[in-house]
Amino acid sequence: QTLQLEVDQIMKGGYDHFMQKEIHEQPEALLQTMRGRVMFRRPDDEPSAYVAGAASRITLGGLVDTKATIRRARRIMFVACGTSYHACLAARQTIEDLVELPVVLELASDLLDRRAPIFRDDTCVFVSQSGETADTLRALEYAKTRGALCVGVTNTVGSAISRATHCGIHQNAGYEIGVASTKAYTSQVLGLDAKVRALAETLRDSQSLLFFARGSNYATALEAALKMKEVALIHSEGILAGEMKHGPLALVDEHMPIIVVATRDGTYAKMQSVIEQLLARDARLIILCNEGDERMQGYAAGSRCQLIEVPQTVEQLQPVVNIVPLQLLAYHITVLRGHNVDQPRNLAKSVTVT
Ligand code: G6P
Repeated sequence: QTLQLEVDQIMKGGYDHFMQKEIHEQPEALLQTMRGRVMFRRPDDEPSAYVAGAASRITLGGLVDTKATIRRARRIMFVACGTSYHACLAARQTIEDLVELPVVLELASDLLDRRAPIFRDDTCVFVSQSGETADTLRALEYAKTRGALCVGVTNTVGSAISRATHCGIHQNAGYEIGVASTKAYTSQVLGLDAKVRALAETLRDSQSLLFFARGSNYATALEAALKMKEVALIHSEGILAGEMKHGPLALVDEHMPIIVVATRDGTYAKMQSVIEQLLARDARLIILCNEGDERMQGYAAGSRCQLIEVPQTVEQLQPVVNIVPLQLLAYHITVLRGHNVDQPRNLAKSVTVT
């Protein structure tokens, strides 16, 4: 028992919990995921430096042989559970924009319940951090019987899903120990920790928290709400802000904390209008916005609204940045409430039974 506690402490490397360590490890995890795959263009005037965001080529060794088949697919179907499903949702728009094929998303259990149609010319991508999730594995077996090309995206070499797929990509994000998945999803933003902790103090006794967003940040809202449920044990919902008037608005009052994701992307103007409508109803708002956004600072000045400011990046990657302070928020609220961060009650790291 004592030895196990000491081994755990060494593995946590100075952090209090695995979840905290894994959130902070995300920049390194992302770098490892890209290493050897993303060829950054070097600027002519400074050949030793790489230009962030100026990738000229991405090579995924595991897909080289099947690239042509994937290109001919009628559609791409992503299949996953939990946080891995949210990662697929966050990536959908980018993939649609780049490959110009229909991209559909399926929760593995629901795909199986419906025995949904899958065709020989579909490419099905099975995303799983552990590579062992039973529903995802069963869905993979089902898709294979329908003749689809099955691609795996997992973080575990030799896992059941990586072995059963026709080809695939290994995430290289490193081990994840905390039950609630974090770094398999994400990137940067770590100086915010103290500010997020202070915010967590004000939210620790909440009965319920809502996250509003649209576009690819809908995934951010769903994932943040999932973290809040999984580890902080607080009821939470991620809400597509476009649906706000079709029900969720009835929940808004001066007590319910609402976190609104309003970074500068294609949905920014619409999110501004959402914020104004919420403020008009005296909502208790926390706005996640880009650093130096004067309009958002204006909303916060003199009202009960608070800001979490994150660096701006290219639109496709902004959700990757946005989730980090929300993971930290769930982490700090959990610690303040005295719950077990790394092994939340009733949950398992890999759900290997259906
Ligand atoms: C469990 C874990 C979650 C994870 C989900 C899917 O529920 O607690 O954190 O997101 O399984 O796991 P996978 O390994 O397939 O990504």
